[in-house]
Amino acid sequence: MKKDAIAVVGAGKGGAAILETLLKMPDIVILHVCDPLPDAPGMKLAREHGIPCRDDLEHACRDPKVDLIFEATGLKAVYDRILTVKQPHARVIGALDAKIIFHLLDLQQAVADELEHRVHKRTRELAEANEKLEQINNEKTRYLMHATHQLKAPFAAIQSYTDILLDGYGGTLEPQTRDIVRKVKQRCVLLSNSIKEMLELANLKSLVRENVKMEAMSLNGVVASVVKHFADLAASRRIRLAVEPFPETCVVGNRNQLLILLSTLVENAIHYSPDGSEVRIAAAAPPGSAEIRVSVRDQGIGIKQEHLGRIFDEYFRANEAVTVHEQGTGLGLAIAKEIAAFHGTTVEVESAPGRGSVFAFRLILA
Ligand SMILES: Nc1ncnc2c1ncn2[C@@H]1O[C@H](COP(=O)(O)OP(=O)(O)OP(=O)(O)O)[C@@H](O)[C@H]1O
Ligand SMILES: [Mg+2]
Repeated sequence: MKKDAIAVVGAGKGGAAILETLLKMPDIVILHVCDPLPDAPGMKLAREHGIPCRDDLEHACRDPKVDLIFEATGLKAVYDRILTVKQPHARVIGALDAKIIFHLLDLQQAVADELEHRVHKRTRELAEANEKLEQINNEKTRYLMHATHQLKAPFAAIQSYTDILLDGYGGTLEPQTRDIVRKVKQRCVLLSNSIKEMLELANLKSLVRENVKMEAMSLNGVVASVVKHFADLAASRRIRLAVEPFPETCVVGNRNQLLILLSTLVENAIHYSPDGSEVRIAAAAPPGSAEIRVSVRDQGIGIKQEHLGRIFDEYFRANEAVTVHEQGTGLGLAIAKEIAAFHGTTVEVESAPGRGSVFAFRLILA
């Protein structure tokens, strides 16, 4: 398609505005811009865009390639002159018509300004609403922390009363009563654990990164503590809790949180593995890397592909998991995920049903 070829006569403010609009239009080509003043704003603009500039209008208007001439001087004499020198096929838009165009341009600008103003206002309102929501959310978290904290003490008390009854301090118990009290105690332990996890999660969510103490610590020390903590549980299921030897390594993190993170993965590995299997902890850093990858591998029930994206959701538990380990809250990995995020990392998982699982995270070397 042939492009419309245009000449602009008069490169003052009006001419410059027309030129600016024409430059944004597709399918046109600007062949000439004319003005007796070489420093007129339109002339500068034309030069910036490599459009030939001239001080006389005749050459431009006689050019047979020109289809349309914009007269933007507002001078009747110039308009008449263009009419006499232009090629017969060339159309001319005079300053009067241009005025209408300017008016339209002004209107367009006003609409654009108004729109921009509204967008700004709306953005501000949304930012304010967001801030309010965040406040409400923090308050909700604080309330939850408070409520769960309040629940901790009564449950601990009920648990110790059941201990007193089971130890026979309240007199001899009928076997049936004893069984019920034992169940009460079991439920109490379960609820206390849930409360502990809810508190941990709420706590993590309300933490401000700057307030969490990050320090350099021995990774070997963290691993050893976790292994020691789970030694009895693993032994009770004849599960071998193995640590692949790795060199003494210093990592950066919050010790308490890293203990919870690794404990969560090791505890899951034990719970969701068959008796007599192996849970293996390893740590490896490729040479020259600034990070070390800590992994926990088990030979357990594994996780279905469709569940892999949900196991980090709060309260999610796969049916297969509930079957092999009834008591669980489904908060462990949600907590692990928060801790990993705090340390600028993620918990990676590789698993398939019946083929075991590998959970891993990366830590920065000190
Ligand atoms: N090593 C694993 N092998 C198989 N499934 C796992 C493993 N780790 C986690 N899962 C799956 O992910 C789910 C969520 O784990 P998460 O630790 O968050 O909760 P939970 O173990 O069910 O309960 P709790 O909050 O008491 O730890 C589990 O219920 C289980 O379905
Ligand atoms: Mg768990």
